[in-house]
Amino acid sequence: MDRIKITGGAKLNGMIPISGAKNAALPLLIASLLTADRLTLKNVPNLADVNLLARILRNHGVDLAVDGKRATPGPLLGETFHLSARDIVDTTAPYEMVSRMRASFWVLGPLLARCHQAKVSLPGGCAIGTRPVDLHLVGLKALGAEIDIDRGYVLAKTPAGGLRGAKVIFPKVSVGATMNVLLAAALARGETVMENAAREPEIGDVAECLVKMGCLIEGIGTSTLRIQGRDRLEGAVHTVLPDRIETGTFAFAVAATGGDVVLTGAKAVHLQTALDALASTGTQVIETESGIRVVRNGAGINPITVETQPFPGFPTDLQAQMMALMTTAKGTSVIRETIFENRFMHVQELARLGADIQLSGDTAIIKGVRGLTGAPVMATDLRASVSLVIAALMAEGETTINRVYHLDRGFEQLERKLSGCGAQIERISAG
Ligand code: EPZ
Repeated sequence: MDRIKITGGAKLNGMIPISGAKNAALPLLIASLLTADRLTLKNVPNLADVNLLARILRNHGVDLAVDGKRATPGPLLGETFHLSARDIVDTTAPYEMVSRMRASFWVLGPLLARCHQAKVSLPGGCAIGTRPVDLHLVGLKALGAEIDIDRGYVLAKTPAGGLRGAKVIFPKVSVGATMNVLLAAALARGETVMENAAREPEIGDVAECLVKMGCLIEGIGTSTLRIQGRDRLEGAVHTVLPDRIETGTFAFAVAATGGDVVLTGAKAVHLQTALDALASTGTQVIETESGIRVVRNGAGINPITVETQPFPGFPTDLQAQMMALMTTAKGTSVIRETIFENRFMHVQELARLGADIQLSGDTAIIKGVRGLTGAPVMATDLRASVSLVIAALMAEGETTINRVYHLDRGFEQLERKLSGCGAQIERISAG
């Protein structure tokens, strides 16, 4: 297994291009199941999760080419995907695939809407929490789906004539449930109204793509989505929006090391709460024409109190990175995680580097220490892993991060982007 070696202490200076958002690219790729026509997606990041989903979609019969070339199995190169789901040959998403990536469960809605039946493995829990799918199923049932759970699989079918539009009121905000129902509603008969829908920018991006495919959607960006389903959707060309979590991660990294970096292509409006929190630490955050400039020179980091919330609140996907930054703040910070019950796997690893963090239920109390010291640590999930990268960049001496395949799931060319700004970071290949 590959490892990453970081020698801390270097300031970050320069420019980092922000990639397309993983969490938009995945459902956009899945949207290809909704049409027999060609869907072209630009700015797709080259990530392990994208490559895994490409394999899952091929299994359903999606013909996939990258930059005009026919994609062969294995790592995909290039950033423009052409997807054609003329014939769906298999409506089963097997355990071996769905268990490796939760977002692949989102094929359920589109398969059901287009083929009137689907068999999709339950995704199961994962390192950050139990992560049930009850809200997905409640939403799809409201659209008329008949659903059974048997031997770890969701078996779903529609009544004759397919799914029909309905009102869905979510008792709790869920990105995945909103995404699944949105994708299904696009091919349902009549109008679907989702209330208390998630408002994450990635949902808006998928909705914009569905509009290009011929669906009428009102309320994009709000918690009430009104979708007029269509009998058939057309092909479209769509560009994946920039990754706000990658943006926040690099912004926090610059604050951690000190320096001056422009995050090109980044959109501040997609992570305003996180940027406001960063500004309150004493870091300068400046919106520029090309993106976001982050500057910290000399002054120490002010501690903060923050809690994770659905969009537009502080994102859970940046909680670990903020905690890494707070480890050397000038005082005590309080970070509360309200979305996932077990998203503190990074705490014990940060402690290996010398961080002083006490956990009490859903709250972490971080006492700023004078400095961190390099040590071997282990990546546990995607965002926890990258928080260790931030901590290692600050630490004195050398840190080795093991199990970096987690990072490869969600960060495109991480080492290259950081080393381009002066970080001493290298991948040690397992051979
Ligand atoms: C999405 O996961 C993201 N994944 C996650 O990013 C992100 O952390 C999360 O949204 C919250 O923003 C992708 O976009 C691929 P949820 P999702 O449904 O959709 C509970 C990353 O690092 N819930 O909004 O699975 C659930 O347990 C990943 O890129 C139910 O109770 O998250 C959680 O407590 C990790 N029943 C809360 O809702 C359900 O049916 C929010 O989860 C569904 C969810």
